[in-house]
Amino acid sequence: MSKAPARLSVLFVTSELAPLIKTGGLADVSAALPVALAAAGAEVRLLVPGYPAVMEGVRAKSRVASFPALGDMPASQLLAGKHSSGVPMLIVDCPALYGRTGGPYQDASGVDWPDNALRFGLLCYLAAVLASGRSPLPLRPQILHCNDWQSGLAPAYLHFFPGERPRSLLTIHNLAYQGIFPAETVSRLGLPAAAYSPEGVEFYGRMSFLKAGLHYADHLTTVSPTYAAEIQTAEFGFGLEGLLSRRRSHLTGILNGVDVDAWDPETDPYIARYYGVNRLPAKQENKRALQERMGLSVDLDLPLFGVISRFTPQKGLDLVLACARELIAAPAQLAVLGTGDRDLQEAFQQLAKALPGKVAVQIGYDEGLAHQIEAGADLFLMPSRFEPCGLNQMYSQRYGTPPVAHAVGGLADTVVDYSAATLAERSATGFLFQPATAEALQGAITRAVGVWEDTKAFRLIQKAGMARDFSWDASAERYMELYRTMLAS
Ligand code: ADP
Ligand code: GLC
Repeated sequence: MSKAPARLSVLFVTSELAPLIKTGGLADVSAALPVALAAAGAEVRLLVPGYPAVMEGVRAKSRVASFPALGDMPASQLLAGKHSSGVPMLIVDCPALYGRTGGPYQDASGVDWPDNALRFGLLCYLAAVLASGRSPLPLRPQILHCNDWQSGLAPAYLHFFPGERPRSLLTIHNLAYQGIFPAETVSRLGLPAAAYSPEGVEFYGRMSFLKAGLHYADHLTTVSPTYAAEIQTAEFGFGLEGLLSRRRSHLTGILNGVDVDAWDPETDPYIARYYGVNRLPAKQENKRALQERMGLSVDLDLPLFGVISRFTPQKGLDLVLACARELIAAPAQLAVLGTGDRDLQEAFQQLAKALPGKVAVQIGYDEGLAHQIEAGADLFLMPSRFEPCGLNQMYSQRYGTPPVAHAVGGLADTVVDYSAATLAERSATGFLFQPATAEALQGAITRAVGVWEDTKAFRLIQKAGMARDFSWDASAERYMELYRTMLAS
């Protein structure tokens, strides 16, 4: 009997994993992509830090290895368990580094943990050990798949290990976060002094986890084709455009998918009334429920704009603030959910106070409300200054809530701008604008309200969005092809 071919094995390293620990889209991608890769034939294992949410959320765990201290990183244990999706997990148990309440990167008041270099240095070091010939476990991943700066140093460790090595891939979800620390961190992390060079982990007199990954990983991907091109320019490259452009033959843009089961208006347990492409009028019930829940005046004859976002400069929410009064005068309503920068939180809260019944703002993270806004709003605002991929514009298309978005990064790749021509060919799914100015956003809002008033045209846009395939299948296939190419080279 011939043996079945071995499955391509992947160690997927991540600092966020939905539903256990999440600050943004990386958590969603880390939960969904490994499942899609497994369906495409890969054998995938997740490697994550043992934050309290992970230790408590993953029930059955067994200890599979122990590691001594290295540099200033304490000794740790490796536990094996399973994600709720069924994907096997390896968890780094190190209470001194991860056993604390707060976020994955910051304490409860929003200040970075002072030992983040050690916290994510350990994750990177163990990723490299587990993927190499020095692993104490029998598994030998062929691909080490890292994500963002928090696992960016793993390819650097690998580089300095002698002997058997896997191929390494670093996916850039966001170039704005780089993991930059003082130069002396290199020795605290047990890396050789030789690593601290411009042809290594050095970046303008300090060490950079992300730069390390961009330099040492065999291949780089980012989460949309347009962002892959943008990050090679000074406007979007955050100082890394030169390196990225030199590595462009090893840089691929692969669009994210979304979890089409969790984000489906036909079965979404969070929403007031299920609906689908053939039952669009039922969406109105969700609008009414959202207006009631958020304290907006209940009025189905006004267009309702939704926002769900981290409050950071990236997301261009200052543009929404600048346009808010004109938006209300359209007339229209605005429902905002988000958390982050204090100034933005206060500005939105003041706006809601000044315009009661017309603008509603909830500060905080609320999964249920996020689904209710997608289902209840008529249009979705996403004026991001840059957006590597973005997930909400895809969710909103699935929910018949056309996005109004800045034509940048993944937004440009996933939204088809409304025009007479795209409407005629039934491809229009939203409204794009550029540049990222309040005037351009206002223009797009006015355009969108105009089309919303024309129910027949608006329905075509909703239906085209709802019919699009944003599932992970195609993207997982692209990752599989890339893995195979990397192994063959
Ligand atoms: P980013 O990762 O840059 O924040 P994405 O659009 O890729 O942007 O992903 C954001 C994810 O986080 C989406 O799943 C979105 O619904 C969710 N999200 C962001 N802010 C909130 C919030 N305040 N409450 C609930 N979900 C949120
Ligand atoms: C980052 C980006 C976002 C992307 C997400 C998942 O947080 O800001 O655009 O969708 O990662 O890849």
